[in-house]
Amino acid sequence: MRSLADALAVSPATVAAAYRTLRQRGFVVADRGRGTTVAALPPVRVRRVAELPAGVRDLASGNPDPSLLPSLAEALGRVDPTHKLYGGPAKLPELESLASAEFAADGLYGEIAVTGGALDAIERALQTELRIGDRVVLEDPSWPRIADLVHALGLVVEPVAVDSRGLDPEALEAALRRGARAVIATPRGQNPTGAAVDPARAEELRAVLARWPDVLVIEDDYVARVAGAPYAPLHVEDGRWAVVRSLSKVLGPDLRLAMAAGDPLTISRIEGRQRLGPGWASHLLQQVAALVLRDRETKRLLRRAERVYAERRNALVSALAAHGIDASGDSGLGVWVPLADEAAVVRELLARGWAVGPGERFRFQSASGIRVTTAALEPADAARLADALASLRGPTARTYDA
Ligand SMILES: Cc1ncc(COP(=O)(O)O)c(C=O)c1O
Repeated sequence: MRSLADALAVSPATVAAAYRTLRQRGFVVADRGRGTTVAALPPVRVRRVAELPAGVRDLASGNPDPSLLPSLAEALGRVDPTHKLYGGPAKLPELESLASAEFAADGLYGEIAVTGGALDAIERALQTELRIGDRVVLEDPSWPRIADLVHALGLVVEPVAVDSRGLDPEALEAALRRGARAVIATPRGQNPTGAAVDPARAEELRAVLARWPDVLVIEDDYVARVAGAPYAPLHVEDGRWAVVRSLSKVLGPDLRLAMAAGDPLTISRIEGRQRLGPGWASHLLQQVAALVLRDRETKRLLRRAERVYAERRNALVSALAAHGIDASGDSGLGVWVPLADEAAVVRELLARGWAVGPGERFRFQSASGIRVTTAALEPADAARLADALASLRGPTARTYDA
């Protein structure tokens, strides 16, 4: 800082203030003991979604299979078109009671918020709870948009390893000891590994979190009831918590709705911050969600969707296993394939007509791999993809060893 101040003929205090501003805005990263470096990624990415070449199968985006989403047609025809004015309740009472019942079925009795998707709830919870520079535990690897959000808020990512049963309790404890103020974790359908937290691991994690009752625990239960694994709570009941259940994979991403249950302070802060933004989630959409969720046919379809998603994950995992390739996909909409040479494999697969997610965007310190969305991947196609991957592994592995 002193030499920069000399070179620029400004005071060291000015340089220090510039560093602070750059850090707060996410352009540089300060690491205790290692100095300050330019952030690898800009704080808010303005990224155009690259168009896939014609004929390439998209297994990179995490979309649900549209044929496993309930039809909205009938509900749209039944929506009450009466204008709702300012000053009404933020939550449609019917949707709130459906949400309460669904959470209660998993033993969750909190206040309820209805937000514009899962990320919206997570952003509002973080923004009202934390201050710039606070540390947030994220799963390593995890969905890139969560890390982008954390950076954009001026918060610092504290990566904690996940294995096939979720967050590593010891690593979580160490991160909390380093002063993390919030934890974001997926109880099931972990993106990208497919991990689901079982009751024993959940208990271990709760035992750790119980020692930090002021830490906000956000459970991103984004695949919710089509995850293919039961829900196990990670938070402690009398701590600070929010369980966020997106409707994107259940009823469709364009409804832009999620339901959150949490302790009264967390939920009132989410709703308070929501009032300063969109105000509330449109009741037209909340009505559609409530009508579809109440429909018996929806329950049947969602049970089928959960089964089909599991069959499709398993088909790819088994087809890869037949080639001696280890992959995981215990729950959720995708499969994670650990690979040393992920960039080369992603490139080669693209050349053969398959777009998959490079692990690089998902991981901090964890090992490399690729994420394959299997939501709409029929078993026959899974076998073809596994053949393609197996045929790549030979030559690329030899190159790698050499
Ligand atoms: C981990 C995770 N959380 C949240 C979401 C998205 O939720 P929403 O559409 O409700 O914002 C996704 C989407 O794939 C996801 O992978």
